[in-house]
Amino acid sequence: MQNDAQAAHSHDTEAGFDTRAIHFGYDAQAHQGALVPPLFQTSTFSFPNIEYGAKCFAGEEKGHFYTRISNPTLALFEGRMASLEQGGGAVAFGSGMGAVTATLWTMLEPGDDLIADITLYGCTFAFFNAGLAKFGINLTYVDMNDHAALQKALAASKAARKVVYFETPANPNMRMVDIPAVCALATQYGAKTVVDNTYCTPYLQRPLTMGADVVLHSATKYLGGHGDLIAGVAVFKDPELALNVRVYGLKDMTGAALSPHDAQLIMRGMKTLSLRLERHCDSAEIIAEKLQAHTLTEVVYYPGLKSFPQHELAKRQMKRFGGMIAFELKGGLEAGIRFMNALKLISRAVSLGDAESLAQHPASMTHATYTPEQRAAHGISDGLVRLSVGLEDVADIWADIEQALRAV
Ligand SMILES: Cc1ncc(COP(=O)(O)O)c(C=O)c1O
Repeated sequence: MQNDAQAAHSHDTEAGFDTRAIHFGYDAQAHQGALVPPLFQTSTFSFPNIEYGAKCFAGEEKGHFYTRISNPTLALFEGRMASLEQGGGAVAFGSGMGAVTATLWTMLEPGDDLIADITLYGCTFAFFNAGLAKFGINLTYVDMNDHAALQKALAASKAARKVVYFETPANPNMRMVDIPAVCALATQYGAKTVVDNTYCTPYLQRPLTMGADVVLHSATKYLGGHGDLIAGVAVFKDPELALNVRVYGLKDMTGAALSPHDAQLIMRGMKTLSLRLERHCDSAEIIAEKLQAHTLTEVVYYPGLKSFPQHELAKRQMKRFGGMIAFELKGGLEAGIRFMNALKLISRAVSLGDAESLAQHPASMTHATYTPEQRAAHGISDGLVRLSVGLEDVADIWADIEQALRAV
């Protein structure tokens, strides 16, 4: 088994972010000059003889033998992600939820403690409550901005293994978590920290450089960037943990392997990652300001707004403020529904990070797995609208929002 995008050139280690996003781990001259890495669209790999095959299975020989475990196209994508997130190893998955489940099922055993932030993507929250709690893992939800409460939960834990888990900015309400502070506290109590970095990608934020142990992504979103695939990836500080997650979480527990063809498409998307994110950020900053100035909005949650309570924290740990905005309209749920139904250019759809602008209503869509009481406790109001600002002309995006606001 291997995850061995080979360091063929100095650009693999010395070059800038964009150069590595485009070139890392690939030597065209070793592949008949092909500019784009060949796609290894194969489920299995043949062995020259039985002895070599036995060595591969025993882990004594490096080599690919079955694509559920590893594949050269997947290894290239994994190598690029490890490089961009500055980690020691990465594993690709067939979905973001594949990355979440395979990673936590490897890191935790019955009797262990998972301490998670109060605001999480709905399916992650459902997996913790059903998938993990059912198998004897103790769950504690803590507001990660309340460091005293986190410290209390960590100090109270007598478990052999503890994991602290959060998203920042969180889906859907943009609440942020101070990555260095929380990671330092977790480390002090021997806990590992897992950060869902889907909203930012390594272009905007690199949690491993701030003390985290694992970074997760739904690569379905900005990494792929074109709304045409479902994928996930986890990047680990410790290459040993990456190997364990591959062998246990991916191979045996979930089988959530990524298709090599989709890995190829994500790598195509990653060539324009910084360009796209710069544009997402430019447009989101404009839209957030305009929304905030509008008489019909109650509150706008965008880390780039000076009025955002965690604006200073965002400036410290993010390169820019991202393409996601959440807002509440005056008139709550009714107004939110009227606004959503009046949109013409912006699609009413879950997911995010695509070229197309997307709007959704968390209470009835992505966070319907929460009860109304849980949503209230987790800061997800029934009137909240989530907007993924796309790559269309910003004037057209705003024109659509403005006409939908008039319909409210
Ligand atoms: C923050 C976050 N994490 C994880 C996921 C799960 O990813 P996927 O849909 O690729 O399984 C999502 C999906 O929306 C997400 O928004």
